[in-house]
Amino acid sequence: MILEIVKKEIEKSGLISFQRFVELSLFHPEYGYYCSGKARIGKTGDFYTAPSAHRSFGETISRLLVKASLLLESEKFAVVEFGASDGQLALDILTVLCENHPELYARTEYIISEISPVATRAAREKLAEHCEKVWWTNDLKKIEDGGFCGVVIANEFLDSLPFHRLKSDGGEIREIFLSLRDGEIEEVLRDLQTEALCQFSKRYLGQYMEGREAEACLLAEKWLVEVEKSLQKGFVLTIDYGSLASELYSPEKRKGTWRCFYRHKLSSNPYIRVGEQDITADVNFSELIRIGDALNLATVKYTTQGQFLIDWGILEIFRMYDKPQDQKDRLAAKTLFMPEFMGTKFKALLQAKGLSDEELLEFYEDGPFRIAL
Ligand SMILES: C[S@@+](CC[C@H](N)C(=O)[O-])C[C@H]1O[C@@H](n2cnc3c(N)ncnc32)[C@H](O)[C@@H]1O
Repeated sequence: MILEIVKKEIEKSGLISFQRFVELSLFHPEYGYYCSGKARIGKTGDFYTAPSAHRSFGETISRLLVKASLLLESEKFAVVEFGASDGQLALDILTVLCENHPELYARTEYIISEISPVATRAAREKLAEHCEKVWWTNDLKKIEDGGFCGVVIANEFLDSLPFHRLKSDGGEIREIFLSLRDGEIEEVLRDLQTEALCQFSKRYLGQYMEGREAEACLLAEKWLVEVEKSLQKGFVLTIDYGSLASELYSPEKRKGTWRCFYRHKLSSNPYIRVGEQDITADVNFSELIRIGDALNLATVKYTTQGQFLIDWGILEIFRMYDKPQDQKDRLAAKTLFMPEFMGTKFKALLQAKGLSDEELLEFYEDGPFRIAL
């Protein structure tokens, strides 16, 4: 169905960008992978995410939230989660706050931005016992006049945003578009059409060898700019697979990093199972750090997910699963920080606004620091 919609749009406009193709495939309001409810996370779905793997992910992030709330000392404490899907992370966090930190729970507002109505319905059900604490909006301006104080969380959110595909061709960086030949989709190259893509290409793809590909997710920049605008004081925590540009655009990644997932199987063909498989690409953390530097967001920490979780005490939480019947739990929790699972491929970036270097040093003992982008 969605393939027909894609083809019709190409027929009408002659060409569409790969970004537009991903947008339709994943977020068409009726048939897109995420919006239609086809996206399933976890064992019986297409891929795992950290909250679906084990609750200790949320339990560990709760520790950061508690410390952040002490530093911020605001009357209301906002936790704003992007792409919360069925609300598993929200549930794990709110459960910890409710059981162990009632004073903080009382002044916490948990705000979710989620594009999928199906996921939102599932989350409303899952979070029923916290219904007075949670609300949904895709408009950050609605959260608080003058900006909110608190923590923004984006776990595996940015990797799901539509992205452009670029390719080095005859000494130039060009963009991959889709056209139709005999009714079938064909990839064609065109010159870069926006100043933003030209700038991106200059910044990261200056020395790109012939035939190499890379992705550019301009929506990530837009997202961070909007988040910064509406955050008065607090933190932005982004956790996702990806890396700094030096690694992301290294010669080994000839075809870029984008890929499709269907029932835990990887595929490199985005034109099959359209609307039924996920299409995703690694996050360029250099870009988030660069944008943060240009705004008012200081980099507090950039590290692997494994190290980040260890810094915030996952090993202490992990030791609680020490009974023989906890073996399955222990194994699941381990996948979050062991290097061979999610420990190193996933990275965590913590950025802060409105806090002094001294406050940040106290908050995260070996930060803040400068990173070579
Ligand atoms: C890969 S899933 C991750 C879900 C969850 N954060 C987790 O870790 O299990 C990405 C989620 O982001 C949501 N999403 C994607 N683009 C969005 C947007 N522009 N606004 C709000 N939610 C979005 C999707 O619907 C999906 O639920």
